[in-house]
Amino acid sequence: MEFKIWYKEKVNIVDEYLEQIIEVKDNPQKIVYEAMNYSLLSGGKRLRPVLLLGAYELFKDDLKEALPFACSMEMIHTYSLIHDDLPAMDNDDYRRGMLSNHKKFGEANGILAGDGLLNKAFETGLKAAIKSNSINAVKALKIIADSSGTEGMIGGQVIDIDGENKISSIEELKYMYSLKTGAIIKSSVTAGATLAGASRNEIKLLENYAEKIGIAFQIVDDILDVTSTQEKLGKAIGSDAVNNKTTYLTFKSIDEAKKDVEKFTHQAIESLSIFGNRAVYLIELAKYLTNREK
Ligand code: IPE
Ligand code: IPE
Ligand code: MG
Ligand code: MG
Ligand code: MG
Repeated sequence: MEFKIWYKEKVNIVDEYLEQIIEVKDNPQKIVYEAMNYSLLSGGKRLRPVLLLGAYELFKDDLKEALPFACSMEMIHTYSLIHDDLPAMDNDDYRRGMLSNHKKFGEANGILAGDGLLNKAFETGLKAAIKSNSINAVKALKIIADSSGTEGMIGGQVIDIDGENKISSIEELKYMYSLKTGAIIKSSVTAGATLAGASRNEIKLLENYAEKIGIAFQIVDDILDVTSTQEKLGKAIGSDAVNNKTTYLTFKSIDEAKKDVEKFTHQAIESLSIFGNRAVYLIELAKYLTNREK
């Protein structure tokens, strides 16, 4: 199967599942369900769920068990984007080609819709774990919880917000990236593999793959913020400059940054060698991320 078709198939099953996850109840808090669905069902690359399913698929074929966890990752990611766009954070008005959540629903509802998605992510994972009665499912949830907390995504966002004062070297920047972007990319891969019963060594290799694509992914995000257009990206460009962010391009030229993306992608692919032909889609995925335009 061609990589593009493989990816599209994954996105389709994820989207189908996500569409039925949040019931818009006709109750006084209805607005929060509408705000949650507004961002959750607005597209996006669905990278994290695809990674979770892709890692799971290295070991097991039937993706049914993994789907709720894949969708949990997307809910956590979407919540992080809603909060990332808030005036107190990056203050961005567009996301995924539409008004950002707080622009559409107001700041308070934006905050609460993010909170709601975070909770729903764990409700969904817990429900699946109870149903399967599997310790691997519980372990996967622990991995997901750790990666989105203060030693993961939230921690990275904290450093990012005051990057000008907190980051003075590329090593410090890479640490911040390993948390704000890397952590949930990594947990998508390791949670998928854990759920499927991968060995400790297999998980270690996959962790290395995910760390490398995670840093490459954020570098590309930084580059696109400078070189792309709002039409292509679906979010405002130049946001980092407006916010005086320390990014990869604070330390390196665009050409150097692109070379580093290539290097990290190559390293990511190398760590999959023991999986042989089974890893072909994860390899293609790493390459696709290098050349992505949005
Ligand atoms: C954007 O993530 C935020 C970063 C971690 C750089 P994505 O580029 O995956 O956003 P969507 O999900 O496709 O909208
Ligand atoms: C956001 O990084 C990372 C998280 C949401 C955790 P950015 O602030 O660079 O993401 P974009 O560019 O707004 O998508
Ligand atoms: Mg940000
Ligand atoms: Mg941002
Ligand atoms: Mg960015």
